[in-house]
Amino acid sequence: MPDALPPRRVGVWLIGARGSVATTAVAGVAAVRAGLRDSTGMVTEQLPVAAGVLPGLDELVFGGHDVSDTPLLKHAEELADDGVIPASVLRGIADDLDATDARIRVGFRPEDGEGPVAAIARLTRDIAEFAAAVDADRVVVVNVASTEAPVTDDPAHADLASLQAALAEGRDVLPPSSLYALAAFSGGCSFVDFTPSVGPRLPALDEAARRAAVPYAGSDGKTGETLVKAALAPMFATRALRVRSWAGTNLLGGGDGATLADPERVSSKLRSKVEGIERVLGGDVVQPLHIDYVPDMGGWKTAWDHIAFEGFLGVKMRMQFTWEGCDSALAAPLIVDLARLVAAAHRSGMSGALPELSYFFKAPLDDAPVDLGSQYQRLCDFAASLSDDT
Ligand SMILES: NC(=O)c1ccc[n+]([C@@H]2O[C@H](COP(=O)([O-])OP(=O)(O)OC[C@H]3O[C@@H](n4cnc5c(N)ncnc54)[C@H](O)[C@@H]3O)[C@@H](O)[C@H]2O)c1
Repeated sequence: MPDALPPRRVGVWLIGARGSVATTAVAGVAAVRAGLRDSTGMVTEQLPVAAGVLPGLDELVFGGHDVSDTPLLKHAEELADDGVIPASVLRGIADDLDATDARIRVGFRPEDGEGPVAAIARLTRDIAEFAAAVDADRVVVVNVASTEAPVTDDPAHADLASLQAALAEGRDVLPPSSLYALAAFSGGCSFVDFTPSVGPRLPALDEAARRAAVPYAGSDGKTGETLVKAALAPMFATRALRVRSWAGTNLLGGGDGATLADPERVSSKLRSKVEGIERVLGGDVVQPLHIDYVPDMGGWKTAWDHIAFEGFLGVKMRMQFTWEGCDSALAAPLIVDLARLVAAAHRSGMSGALPELSYFFKAPLDDAPVDLGSQYQRLCDFAASLSDDT
């Protein structure tokens, strides 16, 4: 039986809470709440949801884990210098950033030598203490930490009992993103993975979520080049045009750009970026794709895509586009959307994977159509069903 509406407070626990996306999300909610900016870019503000079903912006309370100790306000100032957060807005929300910063705990780093069982217990406890301190009815854990390298398959990933046995032996079978997801599930919290890291995408983790009766969503937010691809690819498909190659060059600065300069970590991102085209246009499309770190670009990103396609009588044609986006300003409102939707899904009694939220992700959790139009329709249906359930 779902509990009463509306909830008093919903906790949003950010993994990577001092990063650019997290900082912009916290700053953005504070700015909208204070009436300094409107909610442009926030999809939940336009969805067909009955009043009171989604937590209001003033009900969200942020906290999180990070391995960096640069205060949120300092990072927000850097983002302001970079033109991401307007300086006039920053002056009005400094106290909100400091209050959130005080709720950030030390994250998990494998090199610190903390065993996995102890780490899960500590991370779970941190989140429970946060929920109690801010009097939150429920907590959504959102992963916006640095992208990890892909993991090697391990038999312990197959089911929860095997995973727990391996962890109890102290075996290092989970990357940090999955430890965080397991900590969230153990504490009865829902989970959103906005990164291409493995996170909850293992059979054992799915089982953990279902047993804990909590929902999760992922993976890897669709905010820039991949968003445009998801809108454009169905056009070629439905017009019976044959796409021969789709080449993409991404120039990226900021912390994410620096992380993705690592060849192993970037392979997780490249995988999720090509997936959508494969699923809409088939596996024959040649997709050379690379991401270059350009420190000078700061929080901004340029993507140049070159699409070669074939029409009637085999006539060859080309299309090119350039996308110039502010990474965190594109991602931050979606963090808020996802936190609100997943909290409402949890409150409605849903558990396990939420593929209905694939509109937001590069690598959705099921094999459903990946064109943006059908994904948006599915999201609207899902939002409307939330009002029915509660
Ligand atoms: N900005 C976008 O449009 C977008 C789109 C899709 C996905 N993403 C993903 O979101 C994530 C965040 O992006 P960003 O631009 O904020 O990056 P960022 O580098 O600014 O922030 C990442 C944060 O994660 C922290 N971190 C690293 N390891 C950690 C750990 N083990 N535990 C806790 N915290 C840890 C870092 O200290 C840092 O503060 C990245 O994985 C990125 O790929 C971003």
